[in-house]
Amino acid sequence: MHPRFLYFCCVNASIHITPSTGSRIDTVDFSNLAFGSTFSDHMFVCDYRDGQWQTPEIVPYAPMELSPAASVLHYGQAVFEGMKAFKDDEGSVWLFRPDQNAKRINKSAERLAIPQFPEALFLDGMKQLITLDKAWVKAGKGNSLYVRPFVFASQAGVQASAATEYRFMIICAPVSSYYGGEVRVKIADHYSRAPQGGTGYAKAAGNYGGQFYPTQLAKSEGYQQVIWTDAATHEYIEEAGTMNLFFRIGDTLITAPTSDSILDGVTRKSILDLATHLGLKTEVRMLRVAELIEASKSGTLLEIFGSGTAVVVQTIDGFGYKGEKFETPLPKNSFALMLKEKLMDIQYNNAEDPFHWRYKVCD
Ligand code: COI
Repeated sequence: MHPRFLYFCCVNASIHITPSTGSRIDTVDFSNLAFGSTFSDHMFVCDYRDGQWQTPEIVPYAPMELSPAASVLHYGQAVFEGMKAFKDDEGSVWLFRPDQNAKRINKSAERLAIPQFPEALFLDGMKQLITLDKAWVKAGKGNSLYVRPFVFASQAGVQASAATEYRFMIICAPVSSYYGGEVRVKIADHYSRAPQGGTGYAKAAGNYGGQFYPTQLAKSEGYQQVIWTDAATHEYIEEAGTMNLFFRIGDTLITAPTSDSILDGVTRKSILDLATHLGLKTEVRMLRVAELIEASKSGTLLEIFGSGTAVVVQTIDGFGYKGEKFETPLPKNSFALMLKEKLMDIQYNNAEDPFHWRYKVCD
């Protein structure tokens, strides 16, 4: 049998559920949540061994046992996804384009030589998990349940090759905003996030770990994030690591094309579709750092924002490049705020969804 076909086999696709004996929800202060640090009552777990995914389970959220020799700890074979569940005013819970995440985790997995996870089980596991923990999805714009599917090499052994055992999991964290306050970014002129032919397009754990040190340096200079440039020349803008980027120059919204070094963000492509639908002019093209600086100096750079699941849309208040600082105060008719509002209206079921992006989880 072709190995790819084997990956799609599952011993028993029906999910075995062990409910928690008591909820922790009353111990949580929902008005004071640090992003991604509080987790709901249950988690989804499915192991891969002997060439197939085993019986999937939903169990109480708890620490788990892992061999110190687990391959992921030594060679970083791990990929993840991020999505959000929203509660509308009637109490129904919705996901935003989860089919895109189901596909992308397998694209990422392929690059890391991790077996493909069945898309139907990805969606069903998530639906059943969120339904069980629906009390953790708080209503109100800005509140959501951040859903984190991930898969890692669990096989014990320090030989440097693709593992034969993996664990796929989904955990959920009630969240409000990702960043608090203003966001300023530093344009990278030395460090790189992703070379051509590398793993930049994948949501690989290592892509994030490799950013922390340069980001720490940027933070010490007063920035919150790094804007990554192409690894070969540092002349072209790519993405911000936790966000794709949009630049409004004149009345045109510019974003970089996806490539093997840029994540194909679900929010990014939704913003592009929404902007086009609203009659805004968009350009998907590489933007040179030199062009950005020129636009900032001449006054044609009107705003910069990031897009991503965690942030939705994040306005950027300024940027720095080689020691020089530039301010990008929010214009009166901000595209960022307008697009954020419209997108969130769709996500929270407050508006028509002409794109069919909403996916009902439960009532
Ligand atoms: C997301 O927006 O979901 C991300 O992956 C960013 C992050 C929190 C790592």
